[in-house]
Parts: sequence; C-alpha cells; structure tokens
Amino acid sequence: MRLVHWCAADLLHHMDDVLDVYGEAMGYSPDLLQTRRGYIASHVNRASFTAVATLDDAGRLLGFGYGYRSRPGQWWHDQVRNAVRRDERHHWLADCFEVVELHVRPAAQGRGVGGRQLTALFAPTVESRTLLSTPEADESTSRAWRLYRRFGFVDVLRHFRFPGDNRPFAVLGRQLPLST
Ligand SMILES: CC(C)(COP(=O)(O)OP(=O)(O)OC[C@H]1O[C@@H](n2cnc3c(N)ncnc32)[C@H](O)[C@@H]1OP(=O)(O)O)[C@@H](O)C(=O)NCCC(=O)NCCS
Repeated sequence: MRLVHWCAADLLHHMDDVLDVYGEAMGYSPDLLQTRRGYIASHVNRASFTAVATLDDAGRLLGFGYGYRSRPGQWWHDQVRNAVRRDERHHWLADCFEVVELHVRPAAQGRGVGGRQLTALFAPTVESRTLLSTPEADESTSRAWRLYRRFGFVDVLRHFRFPGDNRPFAVLGRQLPLST
C-alpha cells in the first residue's frame, strides 16, 4: 500500500471512492452519504487545505483524511468557538488546523494506516494547534479514541451537541507540530 498527498482536484476526482470509504468506516447510509458530497466539495478550496489518501497495490482507496485552516464564519469553527471557554478560545482557535475527516476501510484498520494518514496530514501544516471532533465513545475500545490519545490529543470539549446531530461529541486538540 502507499500513502499519497492529494490536491483539491484529486479529492474531487476520487469523490465516489471517498464517499464509499466514508460510508464503510462510519456505517452511514447511501442517502446520508449523498448529502456529504456537496459538503466535502465545498471544503477543498479553503485555506491550508491538505488531503492524504492510502491506496492498495491495485490502486483501490483504503483510507483518506483531510483538513484545513479553521476560520471564523465556518460552521464548525463558530460552533466550537461559542462553546469553548472564553479564556481558551484564542489558544485553540486563533491559529488552528481542523482535521475534518479521517477514515479507513474496516478491513484495512489496525495496520497503522490511520496513524500514518494523521502524521502525513500534519506534515505540511503551518498552524500551531489542531482540533477535531469525534463521537463520544469508550476510550478503551474505540479505535479512533485510542489513535487520538496515542497522538497526544487532549479534551477541549466533552459531550458537546452540534446542532442537527443528536450524538454527543468530543472536541480534542493538540499543539503542532507533532514533535512538540
Ligand atoms: C479511526 C481510524 C481512522 C483509525 O485508523 P486505523 O488504520 O485503524 O488506525 P491505526 O492502524 O493507525 O491504529 C489502530 C491500531 O493499530 C495499531 N497498529 C498501528 N500500526 C500497526 C502495525 N504496523 N501493525 C499492527 N498494529 C498496528 C495501533 O497501535 C492501533 O492499536 P490500538 O487501536 O489498539 O491503539 C479508523 O479506525 C476508522 O476509520 N474508524 C471509523 C471511522 C472513524 O471513527 N473515524 C474518525 C472519526 S473522527
């Protein structure tokens, strides 16, 4: 397998495969996935957009991840900013790279793909902080939670409800670069 960096056009070109991986990893229905198509396409022109993909030897997409600079006026940024303690807002959000999506096909999980994707996603970033949100789950059994903890992510918000989604989420953050 190999890991590659994608530009905006690459991600748009592979959108069907991206949605397929996303759906398998999250267990989302085809209908829900179609609503994500436009949402993902609208992200690729944002500042500091960075995307990575993992392909198997036959060129099939095994996983992907992307993020961008988190800025006021973006829906996720504004939700998180309003919920974070006032005295922590500048620290986390003034110079922040948001990890928007990170997914690996279930059959390819547990072999280091997610970790390599996360490392590669941060390699070109210039921001001094990173944030992501993930559904609340048992930290000891959830692959995503174990991965983020292994990478040194700390709690920024817990049991947070984004409008329109009744699942509780955690917002986790870390300093960048990874070596700090
Ligand atoms: C979260 C996710 C992206 C992680 O990807 P992954 O490829 O499974 O992650 P990794 O393989 O790097 O790490 C998972 C495990 O494999 C282990 N591992 C890493 N490299 C390994 C290797 N070479 N050999 C064996 N095991 C290895 C890790 O130690 C880790 O073990 P742990 O889960 O017991 O801590 C993936 O599981 C996923 O897509 N989950 C569903 C969607 C999701 O929750 N996405 C995040 C939403 S915010």
